Amino acid sequence: MNDIAETIARLSIFQKAALLSGANTWQTREIPDAGIPALWMADGPHGVRKQAGSADHLGINGSQPATCFPTAATIANSWDVDLAEEIGRALGREAAEQEVDVLLGPGLNIKRSPLGGRNFEYFSEDPELAGRLAAAYVRGIQGAGVAASPKHFAVNSQELRRMVSDSVVDDRTLHEIYLTAFEIVVRESSPWTVMSSYNLVNGTYAHENAELLSDVLRAQWGFDGAVVSDWGGADDAVRAVRAGGTIEMPSPGFGSAREIERAVLDGTLAEELLDERVAEVLTLVRRTRARAEAHAVDADAHDALARRAAAQSAVLLRNDDDILPLASATRVALIGDFARNPRYQGAGSSLVNATRVTSLVDAVDASALELAAVAAGFRRDGSPDAGLLAEAEVAARGADVVLLSIGLPESAESEGIDRTTLALPANQRELVSRVLAANPRTVVIVSAGGVVELAEAADAPAVLHGYLGGQAGAAGIVDVLTGVVEPGGRLAETVPVALGATPTAGRFPSTARTAEYREGLHVGYRAYDAADAPVAFPFGYGLGYTSFALSALSTDRAGATVTVTNTGPRRGADVVQAYVGRSGPSRVARLPRELKAFARVELDPGESREVFLPWNDRTFRHYDVDAGGWRTESGDFEVVVGRHSRDRGLSSIVRIEGDLDAPAADAPDAPATPVRAMDDDAFAAALGRTIPPTSRGRGPLGINDPIDDIRHARSRVARGVYRIVDRRRRRAESAGRPDLNMLFMLNAPFRVLSKMSGGLATSELVDGVLVAVNGRTFRGLGAVVVAFVRGRRLERDSRRRFAEPVHAHARRTTEGVQ
Ligand code: BGC
Repeated sequence: MNDIAETIARLSIFQKAALLSGANTWQTREIPDAGIPALWMADGPHGVRKQAGSADHLGINGSQPATCFPTAATIANSWDVDLAEEIGRALGREAAEQEVDVLLGPGLNIKRSPLGGRNFEYFSEDPELAGRLAAAYVRGIQGAGVAASPKHFAVNSQELRRMVSDSVVDDRTLHEIYLTAFEIVVRESSPWTVMSSYNLVNGTYAHENAELLSDVLRAQWGFDGAVVSDWGGADDAVRAVRAGGTIEMPSPGFGSAREIERAVLDGTLAEELLDERVAEVLTLVRRTRARAEAHAVDADAHDALARRAAAQSAVLLRNDDDILPLASATRVALIGDFARNPRYQGAGSSLVNATRVTSLVDAVDASALELAAVAAGFRRDGSPDAGLLAEAEVAARGADVVLLSIGLPESAESEGIDRTTLALPANQRELVSRVLAANPRTVVIVSAGGVVELAEAADAPAVLHGYLGGQAGAAGIVDVLTGVVEPGGRLAETVPVALGATPTAGRFPSTARTAEYREGLHVGYRAYDAADAPVAFPFGYGLGYTSFALSALSTDRAGATVTVTNTGPRRGADVVQAYVGRSGPSRVARLPRELKAFARVELDPGESREVFLPWNDRTFRHYDVDAGGWRTESGDFEVVVGRHSRDRGLSSIVRIEGDLDAPAADAPDAPATPVRAMDDDAFAAALGRTIPPTSRGRGPLGINDPIDDIRHARSRVARGVYRIVDRRRRRAESAGRPDLNMLFMLNAPFRVLSKMSGGLATSELVDGVLVAVNGRTFRGLGAVVVAFVRGRRLERDSRRRFAEPVHAHARRTTEGVQ
């Protein structure tokens, strides 16, 4: 491709506009004549999911084999930036080998509630941890010449109605909690693309949100890449161009291109803005085409990396009487359906067709342990089975130690659906009690992409949470059980005492048009620490097989220095965490402590190391809503260095000179925001505006109303269709096999019928559907037929105009527009 400006000058308005939407489910458009190739995009965050055959974006149809690494929620527990970069590099290499130009990940949305349906794909409840790990992935992926696409920008923390939900969040919370992780990624790793989210943020769709895309992402953080919409997440094509949204995916046919062309020709869209977006597409082409020839991937080496990563990320939550690690030749019974058929990744667009999958049975077989018995113990679909329970008891009695493999079934963790409970399925809870009664020497191994309640396991001497360990996860778990690898994982999210104790309890997911972020800054450990509320396991927590001591903490304006000593008998790793809070009065409401720095240290027995935890420009800042920017208050800050958010560890005061004067020493503290939920007055004050309506009110349905609103439609036919579809949905869900396609469509707005149709349906056709749904059935259906025929003609004509030789269009700005 020649110089970008030169290339742009040779394209017609229509050709330029058409480069801003996809050619099909995974590819961008090509103009060979201008040297512009199509780019291939593929999920995803923990393994390449390239579909050579029939394409869908929900993980339903097959994809080419690739290494399935542990999911982001798992790797986050390693707190290991180098490991994250290594995985990123491996992902990049696999993508390059499969000729994928843009890898759609990592996902780094903040875990606002443990019920978030995609939490397994996200890193943490804390932006510093999420941002630094995601940045490492991006560095790794892009090091292989493949564009990363950190997602979903922004404030996309619930699955229910994700394409129509409006996240209503105050500015301080928006910047401090929900944008900071993305800021870190952009500033630290310069991603070539960012994926905008499905939802609206404070009333505007993310892909056409100028404040997010132009003011924050590009102007403040210096992002110079392309913003890719989530699949079907683009709304108004012209608004997107104006706001900074670059590529609409997948393919809306040429409908969006025609809209953009029309807007340029009628003067409502400046052609310079169109050219800016096209330059972003061409820059992406240039960056990815600079990739060197890909080398063949060593599948064994990547499997070994996946195994090491899984082992290093497993979190040992309990280990009474040092029951772990297990000695060689220990006779173990493997109980639980996951022992033979591991639960190792989540469902949806991130689903990887793994190159191989190791089970616990395989891994124990290959270890120094002796396999005494294997029993399924429970049915994956949740139904009770007395025979399996009895068999499990027999297996448990005959072994030295039971390895009990439980967790969430596939249906409980899927893109598109939020969880409804933190509890394990009842049949597994029963199994835990029965097995523990039969053999108290039971090690509980949890497979789940997030938090689960483990009340029945309270008496189990050991609990190891392996999260979703990827294709080699079981081998990694056995490495930890046998002590080949030290359990280095530390929780990247708090385990609350119960769902009712979470800051969004009773409000998540929002079933309304808006999702109100009334807990403000009180997310995860920030909320529990501010309320001094008990938790089951704190953020940052995890045990090892050795012990560590911290000493000699000192702080200055550059960072904290602390000495870490391995005081136990084995080599092991610890994660040193620095939490910062205000000491003395403050002009702004503050959280007691926030994670600001961390380091993973691996030491031999008796070894000591001085560790430096550097500050950065985020460490002491707060978002000043009135000034519309970041400020740092002068004065004293307390630094606590410890091993989790509740560890008082060592503390020190550091005096900071900021750009905002400290209040007088005897000034009262700024009033704290309520921990659980701001009331209407407080929320309106935090938003700086009246709280937007939670429902759309009555009236005809529009293109951005969710399709499942047809249950209230005027048309009796539409309501009947809803009842049939809803019955099928419920049936599939209660059978434990949610129909992701159907869920996607029900949650989606009407516009998606055209936006994802590849040109089969125009927006005019969708208008016809709406006329029918809104009660004028025959008139609407008539309009649909007319729009369909007209749409076919328009698409044909657009295809022809797009394919015209580029030189014929040099600097021409007018062309017949339909
Ligand atoms: C998901 C994205 C994914 C895209 C393409 C969407 O439904 O939200 O995370 O990258 O599909 O599969």
